[in-house]
Amino acid sequence: MDPGNGEGGSEIFRAQTHLYKHIFNYISSMSLKCAVELGIPDEVHKHGQPITLPQLISSLQISPTKTSYMNRLMRMLVHSGFFSTTKVVNNTTQEEEEAYVLTSSSRLLLKEEPNCLTPFVLSMISPAFLTPWHCLGDWFRGSELNAFEKAHGMNFWDYGEQNPEFSKLFGLGMASDSQMGNLVIKDCKPIFEGLGSLVDVGGGTGSFSRIISEEFPSIKCTVLDLPHVVANLPETQNLKFIGGDMFQSIPPADAFLFKLMFHAFGDEDCVKILKKCREGIAAKEGKVIIIDIVIDEKKDEHESKETKLFFDMLMMIVVTGKERTQKEWERLFLEAGFSHYKITPLFGLRSLIEVFP
Ligand SMILES: C[S@@+](CC[C@H](N)C(=O)[O-])C[C@H]1O[C@@H](n2cnc3c(N)ncnc32)[C@H](O)[C@@H]1O
Repeated sequence: MDPGNGEGGSEIFRAQTHLYKHIFNYISSMSLKCAVELGIPDEVHKHGQPITLPQLISSLQISPTKTSYMNRLMRMLVHSGFFSTTKVVNNTTQEEEEAYVLTSSSRLLLKEEPNCLTPFVLSMISPAFLTPWHCLGDWFRGSELNAFEKAHGMNFWDYGEQNPEFSKLFGLGMASDSQMGNLVIKDCKPIFEGLGSLVDVGGGTGSFSRIISEEFPSIKCTVLDLPHVVANLPETQNLKFIGGDMFQSIPPADAFLFKLMFHAFGDEDCVKILKKCREGIAAKEGKVIIIDIVIDEKKDEHESKETKLFFDMLMMIVVTGKERTQKEWERLFLEAGFSHYKITPLFGLRSLIEVFP
């Protein structure tokens, strides 16, 4: 093998770089988490104009012994696309200095924004989610349901019930993801119009249903989720909560909403739940509305595809689910006795699927 002078060598070193990049990919996630914990996006935003490193440091509550490290964290975050840099003139020295500005991604981390995904960052990059990855190889050789169970000794839903702090963190994370529904629900009039009632199955703390109930006051919305998830949540005239198990019973309604639910469950469970919904559809024009990922091997662009694959792996490690192609979704619908469906790619990574009896 060429040690590095010829074509063969440079190919090997390219391969080494590729390998090392993937070995250290977690550093990108952890740097992002650190930025959120320190509140860097909010400080950059509060400054109202590009912020220099000394200005940023003085606005953050960091130990004086750590200030010299901040440029390295920021360099990483700029490289990852969470901030960009521009030049500003220093009022005292009249010299040009580098200063940081937000990007569209870090704007999604601002606490004051309605679409703040900070809780999603903190919940998904939490020890409960990360520990199972160390067990993946052992899980493949063992008999546990998934790597989460291997790591924590119980399934994901039981873990949430027994760890209220984690349950709260996860609930806030999912609610922040759902909150982005406010960007699209008003454009979904034809999908929700005419419905008298809707059950949001596994609707968490009701973030998505709350948006629907406000946009369509004539729809009676009910969120069904596990009892510890929906206990003591504020109800409104047309938004109620029911604590229960969807495998036991789902109240009848004109429509059933499943946001990021089916991807957390295996095919057999999905068909079971879909059959229950088909039997429970109260109106003639009733339907199931699904908001979930649809993998499109041909059309998905690189970043979208990679993110969908991350979600697919996450569903394998944490629960019993998977991300599905259109064909795989169709198989579930037909097996549960539905006659047709319509996919609208509305939500970035997610699509809206209407399934009709
Ligand atoms: C991935 S979260 C989705 C939450 C919400 N739909 C959203 O997108 O924000 C899955 C939800 O399913 C709920 N869940 C899990 N098993 C359930 C069951 N057997 N019956 C009812 N809800 C369940 C969980 O408590 C959790 O809130």
